[in-house]
Amino acid sequence: MAEFKHKHIIALRDLSKDDIEMLLSSAESLREINSRDIKKVPTLRGKTIINLFYEASTRTRTSFEIAGKRLSADTVNITTSSSSATKGETLSDTALNLLAMKPDIIVMRHSVSGSHYYLADKVNCSIINAGDGAHEHPSQGLLDLLTMKDKFGRLDGLKVAIVGDITHSRVARSNIQGLTKMGSSVFLAGPPTMMPPGVERLGNVTVCSSMKEAIQDADVVMMLRIQQERQGKTLMPNAREYSRYFGLNPENLKLAKPNAMVMHPGPINRGVEMSSSTVDGDQSWILKQVENGVAVRMSMLYHVCGGEIE
Ligand code: CP
Repeated sequence: MAEFKHKHIIALRDLSKDDIEMLLSSAESLREINSRDIKKVPTLRGKTIINLFYEASTRTRTSFEIAGKRLSADTVNITTSSSSATKGETLSDTALNLLAMKPDIIVMRHSVSGSHYYLADKVNCSIINAGDGAHEHPSQGLLDLLTMKDKFGRLDGLKVAIVGDITHSRVARSNIQGLTKMGSSVFLAGPPTMMPPGVERLGNVTVCSSMKEAIQDADVVMMLRIQQERQGKTLMPNAREYSRYFGLNPENLKLAKPNAMVMHPGPINRGVEMSSSTVDGDQSWILKQVENGVAVRMSMLYHVCGGEIE
């Protein structure tokens, strides 16, 4: 059987199709634990995980913490607002000080793209990327793949439309990397100001001139949040105009395949990128994505620790 050889998980770009299949397969096995009365196994007993979040998070931070605890690891959470980063401590100094406490894994979210590679060079524990700037969000990409696989039983041959602020979306980048490796075709749509030049060079990726073209006959419609915190200046006229051209609603969703699934990584701007009725509608898999986030993160923690079961 193939072995997971990566000490760190920083980007889906760094993983092979076999690596991704292994992470998804372990998530499928591990998720049964989440439905038990006693949701705990000893797999990572004695391991210490530090969740170091320099940016806000609800889903990712909580599910990494739950994932660690369900595998019996000791988990510690640090957010910048309550850390010495507010006193000017550098990332490097913070990491070296945390390392002195002998963690096995640091899970980090940071606003600077590539900061995890910098950190991985300086420490001897595993680094997992919980989102770095506009670069990648590998755990989100993996949970999205798992959710699509749950619905369709496969990933190859799917038409996946990703709509919104592609330029600033680490979720889009991880999904493009993961989906194209697994044999899906990706169709992108968004305002020209939010479409990175050359993105079609990433593989089986088509940049569409309209949202209609992207979602026509799609198996999956993935909507993205407008990342106003990463946009140096306003890149759209106003929310109403954006919603008119790039918002998902029950009318334009009819362009996709009848059984198409609707996804969004959250948090959602209801009424901007999606109507509330679409967020809460029958085709929405958004809360299933969140549920799968725990299993995928259990799998990631398990594999960077060497995949040993006690
Ligand atoms: N999808 C996602 O990363 O959500 P959070 O920012 O709440 O972690």
